[in-house]
Amino acid sequence: MRFGRIAAFLAVGLAVAGSTPASAHPGSASPLAGAQPGSASSLAGAHPRSDDGSLRAAARGTGVRVGTAVDMAALAADDPYRAAVAREFDTVTPENVMKWEVVEPQPGVYDWTAADQLVAFARENHQLVRGHTLVWHSQNPSWLTEANYTPAQLRALLRKHILDEVGHFKGKVWAWDVANEVFNEDGTPRDTIWLRALGPNYIADAFRWAHQADPKALLFLNDYNNEGVNAKSDAYFALVKQLRAAGVPVHGYGMQGHLAIQYGLPDTVLTNVQRFDKLGLRTAFTEVDVRMLLPADAAKVQAQTEGFNLLLRACLLVRHCVSYTVWGFTDKYSWVPGVFDGQGSATPMDENLQPKPAYEGLRETFLLAG
Ligand code: G3I
Repeated sequence: MRFGRIAAFLAVGLAVAGSTPASAHPGSASPLAGAQPGSASSLAGAHPRSDDGSLRAAARGTGVRVGTAVDMAALAADDPYRAAVAREFDTVTPENVMKWEVVEPQPGVYDWTAADQLVAFARENHQLVRGHTLVWHSQNPSWLTEANYTPAQLRALLRKHILDEVGHFKGKVWAWDVANEVFNEDGTPRDTIWLRALGPNYIADAFRWAHQADPKALLFLNDYNNEGVNAKSDAYFALVKQLRAAGVPVHGYGMQGHLAIQYGLPDTVLTNVQRFDKLGLRTAFTEVDVRMLLPADAAKVQAQTEGFNLLLRACLLVRHCVSYTVWGFTDKYSWVPGVFDGQGSATPMDENLQPKPAYEGLRETFLLAG
């Protein structure tokens, strides 16, 4: 059902420019307004619970797919992890194994092994695949440097990389993060090997090449700190309009959603998602996690639950938000502690794959929208 009677509930805590979020769906006053996800009693009887109790089942019928990044080493070695990926999600994103350094470790030598395994796993489990990612400044092969190649050669290499990778997975990848993290926080273009060698048109080229290789795949821009209205998301908004005016096949705007409760939660997410939605663009939350300074306590857990939920509610409140993906669902394999000293507990399940309040909050929000 997604819209209508639950709009006011979903909009709790989401600031919207000009009007209330519920105004998008007139007459949708909700008896649940003010209820908080996680407060089971306020939601009792609001919707029949799904039979298997998973996120995947809860999301069914909402129009929003629920996904996770997948750690391929864990998928191979950890049975409970593998079972949870299959049970809980209906899309999967390779956390690392479709990145350029993995798929082409030596020039012209491809290794699709791990990525193919994920695609096969997804097929077995009736899941769609979000491909991640085609042009980025990070996790490129060590041989791919400006010292080794001229700008013309780099352009040819990028073209071949995108045609070959998207071509390899043609018909098997639902959506691609084509261009990842191309702007700085202030909205200026990020200084990367691609910008330096090829100039700003490398983004349009990347989308054109991806579309040429798989005309049916949805093609996304993707970044972090672009969830709310700010200089970075303004830059994306301008870029999308410019690309579309030039006929470039850009279909989606991805917001990674790496939040940290100590910095506060973004308060203009719905306004931001709505403006991209109004362009007719798909939107997606692509890498959601909500980290905290350890140790966790009740207040931090509550803030985390709200962080996960505010992104989901924004997604459910617009027409073209197609998926909500967490960047790993268990703390057992989260990237966060390895990168942010003293921080963690960023995913919806603990290291023993036990659901946290954030998990229950997401499930209940999906159920309300279904
Ligand atoms: O595979 C090697 C292993 O052979 C080696 O022993 C080990 C030693 O450090 O490194 C392993 O590679 C690591 C790889 O993850 C696989 O675990 C890399 O060092 C490590 O840098 C890499 O980190 C990934 C990171 O992207 C790289 O920037 C994280 O797992 C991954 O979660 C993270 O994902 C990014 C998204 O792609 C884009 N958005 C931000 C997000 C979080 O940083």
